Amino acid sequence: MADAKSESGISPVISLRAVTAELGGRPVLRGIDLTVARGEVVALLGANGSGKSTAVRTVIGQVPVTGGAVEIFGTPRRRFRDWARVGYVPQRTTAAGGVPATVTEVVTSGRLSRARFGVLRKADRQAVAHALEQVGMADRAKDSVSALSGGQHQRVLIARALVSEPELLIMDEPMAGVDLASQEVLAATLRHQVEQGASVLLVLHELGPLEPLIDRAVVLRDGCVLHDGPPPKAVGQHALPGHDHVHPHDADAAPVRTGLLT
Ligand SMILES: Nc1ncnc2c1ncn2[C@@H]1O[C@H](COP(=O)(O)OP(=O)(O)OP(=O)(O)O)[C@@H](O)[C@H]1O
Ligand SMILES: [Mg+2]
Repeated sequence: MADAKSESGISPVISLRAVTAELGGRPVLRGIDLTVARGEVVALLGANGSGKSTAVRTVIGQVPVTGGAVEIFGTPRRRFRDWARVGYVPQRTTAAGGVPATVTEVVTSGRLSRARFGVLRKADRQAVAHALEQVGMADRAKDSVSALSGGQHQRVLIARALVSEPELLIMDEPMAGVDLASQEVLAATLRHQVEQGASVLLVLHELGPLEPLIDRAVVLRDGCVLHDGPPPKAVGQHALPGHDHVHPHDADAAPVRTGLLT
């Protein structure tokens, strides 16, 4: 299909068709179909190890596919270059590592693709400040990220994804380790992005405060799509197919608002 047509706005912003991928010699994605239409908010759900992060990483080119087709904005992923249109929040890992940068530096790194000739201008610095305000981290701008808590670090990563004002946001468990108050702040931030026309692919364990924003849910199990349709109503991961871990269930006390620390 010609790119000219695909840029007309009809094609999905993300399209995976029959995608297979292997890691460490084992099949991890076994032929998944996943689309995100323009302006749509899609939740990618499933148990630990079901392939959610791998699926997302095929989109941004961090995991090679062994079969099928991946397109972004209607362009085959291999030929896609316009990464300023995409904001990505990776799944948080416990290992920090590397040279500790300041909060401002980390968020600014998300803006470099927009900066002309790599030179940051006043508008870029304002965008960085604005993104930090959105996630409630403006007062920590000059601090080293190594001095932040896990949830604060996550908020900085979200600010980094927002700062390029992307048309497509891909977030891998953005709420993990973030307390409920901050989750509400981030949900409001995300709602604002969606109102501005952004499309969103979110890996989640629970819908939580994001539930009202979600148009469709795709549930993976064992590298296959188990469900693609309306999000499961007002449930935590307990009710999701493939949920397989054991912990005390807290009666029926508002399961949608429980933490995301699994
Ligand atoms: N670098 C790697 N090398 C080998 N196997 C890997 C690698 N990364 C992931 N896997 C395997 O691929 C499978 C899917 O992993 P993936 O991280 O996509 O799952 P996930 O659905 O994101 O899980 P979680 O909810 O725990 O984040 C798992 O069995 C995992 O062990
Ligand atoms: Mg994952």
